[in-house]
Amino acid sequence: MKVKNICCIGAGYVGGPTMAVIAQRCPEITVTVVDINEKRIAAWNDTDVNNIPIYEPGLAEIVEEARDRNLFFSTDVDGAIDKADMIFISVNTPTKTYGIGKGMAADLKYIELCARQIARVATNDKIVVEKSTLPVRTAQALKNILDNTGNGVNFQILSNPEFLAEGTAVTDLLAPDRVLIGGDIDTEKGKKAVQTLVDIYGHWVKPEHILTTNVWSSELSKLTANAFLAQRVSSINAMSELCEATGADVNEVSKAVGMDTRIGPKFLQASVGFGGSCFQKDILNLVYIAKSFGLNQVADYWEQVILLNDHQKRRFAANIVKTLFNTVSGKKIAMLGWAFKKDTNDTREAASIYVADYLLNEQAEIVVYDPKVTEEQIYADLDYLGTRSSEENRKLITVVNDPEVACSESHAVAVMTEWDEFLELNWEKIYESMLKPAFLFDGRRLLNKKDMEDLGFKLYTIGN
Ligand code: UDX
Ligand code: UDX
Repeated sequence: MKVKNICCIGAGYVGGPTMAVIAQRCPEITVTVVDINEKRIAAWNDTDVNNIPIYEPGLAEIVEEARDRNLFFSTDVDGAIDKADMIFISVNTPTKTYGIGKGMAADLKYIELCARQIARVATNDKIVVEKSTLPVRTAQALKNILDNTGNGVNFQILSNPEFLAEGTAVTDLLAPDRVLIGGDIDTEKGKKAVQTLVDIYGHWVKPEHILTTNVWSSELSKLTANAFLAQRVSSINAMSELCEATGADVNEVSKAVGMDTRIGPKFLQASVGFGGSCFQKDILNLVYIAKSFGLNQVADYWEQVILLNDHQKRRFAANIVKTLFNTVSGKKIAMLGWAFKKDTNDTREAASIYVADYLLNEQAEIVVYDPKVTEEQIYADLDYLGTRSSEENRKLITVVNDPEVACSESHAVAVMTEWDEFLELNWEKIYESMLKPAFLFDGRRLLNKKDMEDLGFKLYTIGN
């Protein structure tokens, strides 16, 4: 079967870039990305392509090439479902904030709503592809809804987890380590559906990089990959604290360890803590699934990755307070970077949010600069924590659009995101403009230690 029309529900960090690349590489397929958020769709359609709602290097160019040719953004969800041969579900699946599994399980209400909507609208056979990260066996739930409430049409459900990392989404999509497609490979119809999706990726991905499995293996592989990646970060972060206590340098340890080809050098960078929409959520999900099968040791093992990450964020913030003579009350602290990593405007679970919250509890005055994150987002992130009223958050935190202004007359600067532009700052001028002693807390090991100390900074870097 050849796909002519693709619909993707959810125009977010995953749906947007993934569909833009599919549209660019498959000009004969019409790709329509739909979302219930009108503002977001309007931004994707903005005549100035630099105003699309997601910042990713290289994405604007791809959108510009494909948009209105075979890539469309719309709020007409029913219309797009009706036309499509293949529907990607790419809506968010946040951690539940209520009821059973609160704080752990994935909230599948959006997924279920999508399934019901597809079932209601569809009048011909469709392939439904799970793109959202989901607990294992969600495909089965999707199938039950589709088969039992549908108009008697045939649905094939595939799992096709996304492995792109934000900030490098376009290169990850264009040259993926692997594309994983899970389907009902024991049946003819299932095999055909899998092959249909293989053919789409086959436009630009070599066959040896396309892996097909059964649906559950595919679903579990995504959670496992994220858990392993996050575990590496927590492992090196655990060592960073030991390095600080013993005088070893975590970068040297990391390099030595990473040169073992069995371990490899990636994801061994000590930091103030991992953030992002996936790591914490996926591990919590894994923990919840393990617990629900009574596998308590498995659950505890993975939960420790999160606990260590929470500890690392708290430890960084506590260290700021301790170093500033045990009080930050009324002191100005500049935070450089708010995004959870460089080259993205995404702030979900960013370490900066938790560090800021800790310091605000100690009555610090915080000034934030981030090259891509809006003031509105920063306040929304703090309001979401619910520690204090949104009026108080607005009173205690100032957002500026110039890093030098952020740092001027501050007691301390904390580097929260490894934006390249922070390397280019006039650090001498910044040092001069600060209150003395001028403290610098490098949560990303971004800056050259010796240079900063030569300028006069009292420097703290994670893991020495
Ligand atoms: C994705 C995946 O879906 C998530 O499971 C994975 O773990 C991370 O990546 P992401 O693209 O980052 O999520 O989420 P987000 O940027 O929030 O985009 C989801 C979009 O879906 C939002 O724009 C939201 O408005 C839309 N949506 C949600 C719908 O259109 N319909 C709904 O019913 C719910
Ligand atoms: C991750 C996975 O990498 C991706 O495959 C999956 O699809 C979604 O989740 P993402 O969250 O976008 O991607 O970014 P990633 O590059 O994995 O970084 C996650 C966090 O870990 C960031 O806060 C980053 O700064 C931190 N990190 C990463 C470290 O602290 N040290 C490292 O060595 C690597």
